[in-house]
Amino acid sequence: EPSKEFVFNYKGFYFAVNTTPEYVASLENFEIKDSDIFIATYPKSGTVWTQNILSLILHEGHRNGTENMETMDRIPWVEYNIKNMDYANLPLPRVFATHLPYYLTPKELRNKKGRVIYVTRNPKDVLVSYYHFSKFIRTLEKIPDFNIFMERFLAGKVLASAWFDHVSGWYNHAKDFNILFLTYEEMKKDLRSTVLKICNFIGKKLSEEEIESVVRQATFENMQKDPRANYENMPDDIAIKGKGRFLRKGTIGDWKNTMTVAQSERFDEVLKEKIQTLPIKFTWD
Ligand code: PPS
Repeated sequence: EPSKEFVFNYKGFYFAVNTTPEYVASLENFEIKDSDIFIATYPKSGTVWTQNILSLILHEGHRNGTENMETMDRIPWVEYNIKNMDYANLPLPRVFATHLPYYLTPKELRNKKGRVIYVTRNPKDVLVSYYHFSKFIRTLEKIPDFNIFMERFLAGKVLASAWFDHVSGWYNHAKDFNILFLTYEEMKKDLRSTVLKICNFIGKKLSEEEIESVVRQATFENMQKDPRANYENMPDDIAIKGKGRFLRKGTIGDWKNTMTVAQSERFDEVLKEKIQTLPIKFTWD
């Protein structure tokens, strides 16, 4: 079992202790505005990337440095309001990030009010990214042995619980939401198409130049250089300085550099058949 020092279980889902069961329960009645956009993901699937793209599309395709605002302040986490922001009075359209499973999202969202962008990623890359991430995030349990971390991940005994449950839950309940599904891999292969898809989904018209600018600023290389986009200014009580970065490698297939053949086979044994029941195909290399 994951340590209670780090997570609590609410309705079958593991949350970090920097929120509370009461607050999570209150989200059921969180008031949705028609223009709201939620970026929903299992951790390490492209959340920060999508946050930055939305931020660029909506506010500052030209991002000229005049407005110094962190992406995490512009697009805060719904279930972890660590800065105690007044969510009801954020400028419109409000954009939130969330790792919530579909069934714990605000009731109105499940009634097609507002919009959801759900991003998935090849789970082996998610696992490896998660493993490296947990080394520098204070609020995540430290499991230095990759093998043990993998078993915990496969058993869903980590923050955000089982990857498969999260993804299959959202896909199987797609019809309850006004939702756009994206994959990390398609974003990586054709970022411009992704930007256009998002613009289309949220009803935002950008000029050719603005689109080019969003695409340019949302590449891994350029985001890594931008402290507002790369989460460099994460509060000290969340991230351990110098132990890792949110923008670590940003590639498809990095799992091959961490997982042994035996580990990959073990992973397949647990997940391969289940994955085949999902209406998406993952790019494995
Ligand atoms: S979190 O903590 O759940 O919000 O993490 P999340 O943002 O979902 O996932 C982090 C991984 O996304 C990669 N990333 C990118 N890849 C490609 N291009 C861009 N622009 C980009 N931005 C973030 C980030 O590097 C993490 O993956 P890994 O494999 O660890 O590098």
